[in-house]
Amino acid sequence: MFQADPQLSRVPGRRQPKPELDLKTASKQDHLRMVIVMDHQSPGKLNMQFPDIWLRDNCRCGECYLPKTLSRLPQLWNNLDTSVRVQQHSVDVDQEILYITWSDGHASQYPFAWLRERDFSLANRTRYLSDFYLPEPRHWSGTDFEHIRREFQYRDLLASDKALLEWLDHLAVYGVALIKQAPLEFDVLRRLCNRVGFMRRTTYGDEFSVRAQPGASNYAYLAAPLPLHTDMPYFEYKPGVTLLHTLEQSDSPGGVNLLTDAYHVADLMRERYPEQFRVLCQTSVDWADIGRDGELEFHNIWRAPVINLDAEGRYVRINHSIPQRDSHFTVPLEQVRPWYEAMALFVRLAHEQACSFKTTPGDVFTFNNLRLVHGRTGYDDTDRNVRHIVGAFIDWDIVYSRLRVLRNAKSNS
Ligand code: OGA
Ligand code: ZN
Ligand code: ZN
Repeated sequence: MFQADPQLSRVPGRRQPKPELDLKTASKQDHLRMVIVMDHQSPGKLNMQFPDIWLRDNCRCGECYLPKTLSRLPQLWNNLDTSVRVQQHSVDVDQEILYITWSDGHASQYPFAWLRERDFSLANRTRYLSDFYLPEPRHWSGTDFEHIRREFQYRDLLASDKALLEWLDHLAVYGVALIKQAPLEFDVLRRLCNRVGFMRRTTYGDEFSVRAQPGASNYAYLAAPLPLHTDMPYFEYKPGVTLLHTLEQSDSPGGVNLLTDAYHVADLMRERYPEQFRVLCQTSVDWADIGRDGELEFHNIWRAPVINLDAEGRYVRINHSIPQRDSHFTVPLEQVRPWYEAMALFVRLAHEQACSFKTTPGDVFTFNNLRLVHGRTGYDDTDRNVRHIVGAFIDWDIVYSRLRVLRNAKSNS
């Protein structure tokens, strides 16, 4: 790294930086070329760091940026000059503005408040990612469930943004939340989803009724036990959050919900059975739902592993459903048996880590369908008592967006 020529730091007519501290352009290898700005307001007078090309790309002037839509204008990218360099730079310490003149003749200014939010330091990126981008998930074991279990009142969620935020935050962190005291009406889930944004439609419609039905089109519409699963693994865009509203519960001992944090199961496998973990991350599985619901005929198939990781190795999605795993298994022969061995382990651990509870009418059971596996024990309907659950989905994009809007409103009030 070298200190920029102090001459270059002089922009006539503006307050000058204290020469030794505010700014330097670091180079040697181009990818390390940065502008370093001392933040006088920060407790330790920390330096903020920005790659020069990123600053040029994110110029806030009217030629480069459209404030009305909060978006970058594309002209610079018609022929992006990646060798663009800082020609002159200075800081107005009182106004807290960084000024830069570029080698392509362009001039930019950046308010410190805007820079602070985007500082490339590890601490700032970590804060942004876990406090604002997505709340950090906390994984839980079957025995932890009683401690992380939380209930919300339906009325509060409709009336109060604070309650709404708490529900969505809990759902994001733990993947499960129970809503109590909802009326026994069919539109409860629609009202909840509309509070967040809007409901996700699927092949089974908007709201769907889970009831034992003669000639059922879906395995869940039988009174038989429903083993641990995620809903709709056969969709590329699998619904993110499942909501299950109990209108009538079975009087028989069955109809009990089972629930496991499959991210915890994946943690156990990663730690104790790394080879089986790798197999579940890397073997594509064929998922399928073929048939009709009412008038609509469908043929939904999707290939994806059971454990899905992002570019940084974090869990993004679990797929699991015994009835909805296709008999097509389109992988090389030698991958088949290791997958069965690994999956047998996953299913065993998921059962070991399961918790159970039985909802009562007026409960809305909400959970992260990308993360948790859920199921239900079998039950017996009678003429007078017919178990009836109404289900619906909402996507995580919609939930996270509402969470951020609620958080921003809270921090601005
Ligand atoms: C489902 C389901 C749970 C229940 O329909 O996919 O998980 O309690 N139902 O019936
Ligand atoms: Zn500009
Ligand atoms: Zn389900």
